[in-house]
Amino acid sequence: NPIKAPELDKCGVATNLNTGDKLDMNCCPPISENIVDYQLPPVFQMKVRPSAHRVSPEYIFKYNMAIERMKRLPKDDPRNFMQQANIHCAYCNGAYDQPGQGTLDLQVHNSWLFFPFHRWYLYFYERIMGRLIGDPTFALPFWNWDNPKGMTIPPMFLDPKSALYDSKRNQNNLKAVLDLGMTGNKDPLQVVSNNLTIMHTEMVRGNANVYDFMGKPYREGDKVDPGPGSAERGSHTAVHVFVGDPREPSGEDLGNFYSAGRDPLFYCHHANVDRMWTLWKYFLPSNKVPERTITEPDFLNTSFLFYDENAQLVRVMVKDCVDNLRMGYDFERIDLPWLDYRP
Ligand code: C2O
Repeated sequence: NPIKAPELDKCGVATNLNTGDKLDMNCCPPISENIVDYQLPPVFQMKVRPSAHRVSPEYIFKYNMAIERMKRLPKDDPRNFMQQANIHCAYCNGAYDQPGQGTLDLQVHNSWLFFPFHRWYLYFYERIMGRLIGDPTFALPFWNWDNPKGMTIPPMFLDPKSALYDSKRNQNNLKAVLDLGMTGNKDPLQVVSNNLTIMHTEMVRGNANVYDFMGKPYREGDKVDPGPGSAERGSHTAVHVFVGDPREPSGEDLGNFYSAGRDPLFYCHHANVDRMWTLWKYFLPSNKVPERTITEPDFLNTSFLFYDENAQLVRVMVKDCVDNLRMGYDFERIDLPWLDYRP
C-alpha cells in the first residue's frame, strides 16, 4: 500500500541525522482539523522558472520582496519563512511516524518519494511567494548547476543586505566552482569537465531502469531509506554539502536536512533538481531507459500534507505532480551541455 500522509497532531521530536542526537527545537507545523483534498487549479498562464544566473534586476527585486514578506509573517503562520523551512525538518528528520505503523519513521529521502515530495514542497512555496507579492505568475529560479555558466552560487544570494542571504554557508565556496563529484580538485576547468561527466552519467548513461533514476520503492510499513536515485545521491547531495557551513556544528544550513530549508538557496537548488526530473522524463533522447514513469498505485497514491497559499491545510497525491505542466509551471529552455558529453 502507499505511504499515508502524516498525522500532524502526532508530530514529535526530530533527530539530527548527521549526529544521531535529538534536536532541541520543534519543527512541527501548526495543527489544523480541516484538511482539504487538493485539486490542481486550472492553468490560465504558465509560470516559467528562470535560470538563476540569467534573471533581471526586476526579478531579483520581486524575489527578494517575496522572501522578506515571508520572513515577516507571524511566526505561527504556516506560510512564514521558518515554518516553511521546518516542513523539511518534519518530513526528513523523523518527527513524523507512518500512520498506523507504530513508531516507524516517515522519511521522504532516499526513496521514490524524493522527487514528488520536493516538487509539492516547492509548488506551494512558489504559490505563497506569488500571493505575498500579488503576482500569481512569479516562478522560482533554478540554480543551473548542470551548465558551466551556472556552476557557482547565483550572485543574488550573496548580497548580505538581501533576504536571499544566509550567513551559514561555506565561506570558501561562495564563489568557487561547484564540485559535483566532491573530488576536492582545485582546477576549475577539470572540475567543470568532471561535473558534466557526472551529469551525463546521472541523467543518461547510468540508469538501467526507472528506479535507478527515481529512487527505490517505499511503501506502507517499509523502513526508511530503501535507496536513492542517481540524481538524489549524486549532484543533489553534492550541492548540499558544498554550500553547508563547516564552521557550524552540523553543516548548517544547507548541509543538514533539518536546517536546509532555512537557506533561501535551498529552493533554488531544488528547483533544478525538479527540472532534472522533467528533463529525464521528457527530453532525453539518448536515455536508454524506455520506461520513464512509475505507474504503480503504491507510488501514485502516496499523499502528503502541506499548507497552501491561503494557509489552508491540503492533502496532495503523488499522481497529481508527475506532470509539471499540469501544475502550471515550466522551465526556461537552456542548453544541456552534458547531454552528449564524452570526457
Ligand atoms: Cu530534502 Cu535536498 O533535500
